[in-house]
Amino acid sequence: MISCDSPRFLSFIPAAPTKASLLFDMIVSASSLQGISWLEAAGAVHAENQALRFVSDLAGLPEGAGGCFVAGGSAGNLSALAVAREAAAARHRATPDRWRVAVSEQTHSSVANTLRMLGCAPFDVATDDARMTGATLAAALDAHPDADSVCAVVATAGTTNAGIVDDISGIAEVCRTRGLWLHVDGAYGAAALLAPSARHLFDGVEHADSLVVDPHKWLYAPFDCAALVYREPHLRARCTRRRPPTST
Ligand SMILES: Cc1ncc(COP(=O)(O)O)c(C=O)c1O
Repeated sequence: MISCDSPRFLSFIPAAPTKASLLFDMIVSASSLQGISWLEAAGAVHAENQALRFVSDLAGLPEGAGGCFVAGGSAGNLSALAVAREAAAARHRATPDRWRVAVSEQTHSSVANTLRMLGCAPFDVATDDARMTGATLAAALDAHPDADSVCAVVATAGTTNAGIVDDISGIAEVCRTRGLWLHVDGAYGAAALLAPSARHLFDGVEHADSLVVDPHKWLYAPFDCAALVYREPHLRARCTRRRPPTST
């Protein structure tokens, strides 16, 4: 096997962990930390919160934004869309048989898996030169008789094959006017928020309800590491709250 930061690794998206991050990963592993709660690992949780603050500020999310680190962008997409579905169910009186989530043909395959797991259906939106735009999203919603069953939109920033960033600003506007959850899948590309030359491509990301960025891709961390940030982190708690037993 070849490590993915080897110069001879020629497949997929390479990672580029720094020596410092590899060393610190070793220390964390050797310490056998359980970072699930403040009680068990306050230091690690504090450090994670600082890193998440950095990501939130980069994206221009509000002060109250927050989240956690999960094992990769696929897990991040799953968590975010589970919360999106619950938030929609809490908002709507009538729950459709199946929630739909707007995606394009460029959306990462992990989202298709996520939708299967969540019992949601994909709502296909056409692209304009491989980008989902506010206009293509609005047209798809207008043309569908059951558009009320759409609970969320996945904007990709950037796409796995070509690094193309969807029209987040236009999509965010449609989400705002129609009350849809905006999830930005920046697992691959959102590290480019740090590049002044590319920052404008991400305009509108500050309106995201949830955002995923993979530090194990472009932010020099070793595998597995995805930052998952919610605009309103308290909505996530709703998903983990125990449901009352049903009467049947
Ligand atoms: C756009 C996008 N989303 C999600 C993922 C999944 O990320 P991970 O491999 O960290 O689960 C990838 C991986 O390449 C990706 O490019």
